[in-house]
Amino acid sequence: MCGIVGAVSAKDSIAFLLEGLSTLEYRGYDSAGLAVINHGLQRARAKGRVAELAARVEQQALSGTIGIAHTRWATHGVPAERNAHPHISAGLAVVHNGIIENYEALREQLQALGYVFTSDTDTETIAHLIQACFKGEIGEPAENLFSAVQCAVKHLTGAFALAVVSEEEPDGLVVAREGSPLMLGITEEGHYAASDASALLSVTQQMMYLENGDVARLTRDAVVVVDAVGQPVKRDIVTSHLSANAVELGEFNHYMQKEMFEQPQALGNTLEMLSGAGQLHPGIFGADAQGVFEQVDSVLILACGTSSYAGMTAKYWIEQVAGIPCNVEIASEYRYRVSVPNPNQLGVVISQSGETADTLAALQHAKTLGHTHTLAICNVPESAIVRETALRFITRAGPEIGVASTKAFTTQLSALFLLTLLLAKGKQRLLEADEKAYLDELRHLPIAVEKVLALEPSIQAWSQQFANKHHALFLGRGRHFPVALEGALKLKEISYIHAEAYPAGELKHGPLALVDAEMPVVVVAPNDEMLEKLKANMQEVSARGGQLYVFADGDSKVRSTDGVKVLAMPEHYGLLSPVLHVVSLQLLSYHVALVKGTDVDKPRNLAKSVTVE
Ligand code: F6R
Repeated sequence: MCGIVGAVSAKDSIAFLLEGLSTLEYRGYDSAGLAVINHGLQRARAKGRVAELAARVEQQALSGTIGIAHTRWATHGVPAERNAHPHISAGLAVVHNGIIENYEALREQLQALGYVFTSDTDTETIAHLIQACFKGEIGEPAENLFSAVQCAVKHLTGAFALAVVSEEEPDGLVVAREGSPLMLGITEEGHYAASDASALLSVTQQMMYLENGDVARLTRDAVVVVDAVGQPVKRDIVTSHLSANAVELGEFNHYMQKEMFEQPQALGNTLEMLSGAGQLHPGIFGADAQGVFEQVDSVLILACGTSSYAGMTAKYWIEQVAGIPCNVEIASEYRYRVSVPNPNQLGVVISQSGETADTLAALQHAKTLGHTHTLAICNVPESAIVRETALRFITRAGPEIGVASTKAFTTQLSALFLLTLLLAKGKQRLLEADEKAYLDELRHLPIAVEKVLALEPSIQAWSQQFANKHHALFLGRGRHFPVALEGALKLKEISYIHAEAYPAGELKHGPLALVDAEMPVVVVAPNDEMLEKLKANMQEVSARGGQLYVFADGDSKVRSTDGVKVLAMPEHYGLLSPVLHVVSLQLLSYHVALVKGTDVDKPRNLAKSVTVE
């Protein structure tokens, strides 16, 4: 959510700043801005995309070796040029990721000191606060920008990653972080900062990850870091394993398309440890996993959005295969509700980004309630969530840029299935022959997903019929109900068609009233123990004129008739069937969005990685 970059370089920084912003644009895309130091402070801002900013920068003929830049997802204040970052206080400019919770009180304090605000943002407060610290109007007069920022961050409550430049100090920039990610790029010719490693790849793979509470000063030749108590610290420089082409679009039209088609590879990478393995070892979740899996008596899953649907699917698996209770809670609810803690419960957080504010806070809340057994399933190894759990499994989906999550979801499912099997082993509930059969199925999963992706032309043909609809229903039963939820979410977020998902048996308890000839009803119909019940539910829809679009396993014996369209899934896949069925729903949403002409990768009002509450 929002993206920041900064540079102190031997050469002009504009190209790096704009390229970095383009890489981070999926994090927020309602306005963008940059500031450079070149005979004073110069700034360009624009409502809309980075391309609009680039045009402004050219018009204003900006250049400079030191600069900061920002792409915004609005929290405080509407998307508008005056609310775009950088925010300025006299000759000092700030870009900011995160939310300052005490900004109203600070704003009043700063207004009383004579500071005039020109935006509705919390960020402008930071700019004036640093200025007030610099001048000694708050605290002792600061020696330099570095100590002014150290003074200012002590007054901030909330989450932030900041980059600050001042025309008083035209040889460097200062950055700080608390709660929001920030890393530095280390090169011979200069130093760089960004809120996401991908934005640094155009200049280097050598990265220094700042810790919470760190403030750092970057000049061309040096980086100085102090920790939360002002002590100089050394942070390791690590080589990022991300490759620049992992975040490039290549032959695809959209990141979502690329990421859907990367799923076989992403699953293969995530399950790589299975190649040739006759059995599973708990060590894949961490050194202490075996003891924990034997000891815990239940599971609590915490996550948001698509990741929570992965958790809901796992609930069916864990209770059926491992035989222990599993609850799934929406992180933003759990963190505030009064719950009954159980120290013998395994707390599992699922997150693609590892930075989702609600999921992180829910994890921290669980820990304060006494949950010591914590486990993260996450796609970003260096993320805050991974650093805060005792056990972890890193999915190897690669960077996910499309706002609508696809490959992160299917790889999360594969990791959760591994967890299910290991919990079952820990409880002595998994026969050797069953373990072997499940491992074979997991190994075959990439090929099975390929076959679903090959259905694209037929799914594309269906998409035309959704494009002029305003509503859609998604039905599933059992472990495919979360798949229906995920299908509805995908359709909503990228095509803006209102979609709801129900466990099919619930239809007659209310939603059936919505069904008429204008209502497409998408049904996830695997050939499992619920199929006959599901067929009865489909009859209820047909009898009311509803239009059924059924994804049925080949042997489901559901036939296309008037008002019933059936697409045969290539393989029936038992417990792992949700992984296949969801891919067909991803393709459906994608093609409906294409017909509707929406911005698939950057849907309105949304952004990737929700680092604000
Ligand atoms: C939907 C989507 C979101 C995320 C949610 C959690 O396509 O991407 O619902 O799943 O914001 O994000 P992570 O998994 O990064 O915690």
